[in-house]
Amino acid sequence: MSEKQNIANEKKYNKWIVTLSITIPLVVAVLFGIKIPNVAPLSFLPPIYAAINGVTAVILISAVFQIKKGNRKYHERLMKTAILCSVLFLLMYIAYHMTSDSTKFGGQGTIKYVYYTVLISHIILSIVVIPFVLITYVRAITNNFERHKKIARITFPLWLYVAVSGVVVYIMISPYY
Ligand code: HEM
Repeated sequence: MSEKQNIANEKKYNKWIVTLSITIPLVVAVLFGIKIPNVAPLSFLPPIYAAINGVTAVILISAVFQIKKGNRKYHERLMKTAILCSVLFLLMYIAYHMTSDSTKFGGQGTIKYVYYTVLISHIILSIVVIPFVLITYVRAITNNFERHKKIARITFPLWLYVAVSGVVVYIMISPYY
């Protein structure tokens, strides 16, 4: 197919990208506000979803390593797995917050500022990363690999930061659960 046709195919996904990038953060924000009464807090979830974040970081690095070696199929499979991990993370994160009160960070002084800087940057960038991942993905599945490469150079570090900072936030808050 011609490049023009590939770009035309890519554009067909724009509505979906815009809709999902707005809807996902909104739905998550609304669900966070809803507490399910008379349900025991799912307190076993935070270590699991923190571990999934760690796994996502490793998968992302492996996926880029594989494409640098020219292994396209393996790169594709790893990136699809990374997306699945992020979806699982989000579902567990929501389930936990709908059944538990948020934990306050108990540290004082510098460590408190470090914690909130990492937490707030993690939250903001986790919203920003959604359209980046979707655009990167759509450019790959529509064979726009030059355009895929261009945006992937931003998506990759952004997504990696979100995954790693998720683990850091968990490690820092875990003494206060
Ligand atoms: C959203 C998930 C994805 C991310 C973050 C991502 C990230 C990347 C990165 C960082 C590169 C290397 C860019 C460079 O060399 O500087 C790359 C290249 C590539 N990716 Fe992905 N990728 C994703 C999904 C996919 C999927 C699903 C496919 C296959 C359908 C794919 C196929 C490729 C190919 C073929 C290249 C090489 C392009 C070239 O050298 O011309 N990627 N990707």
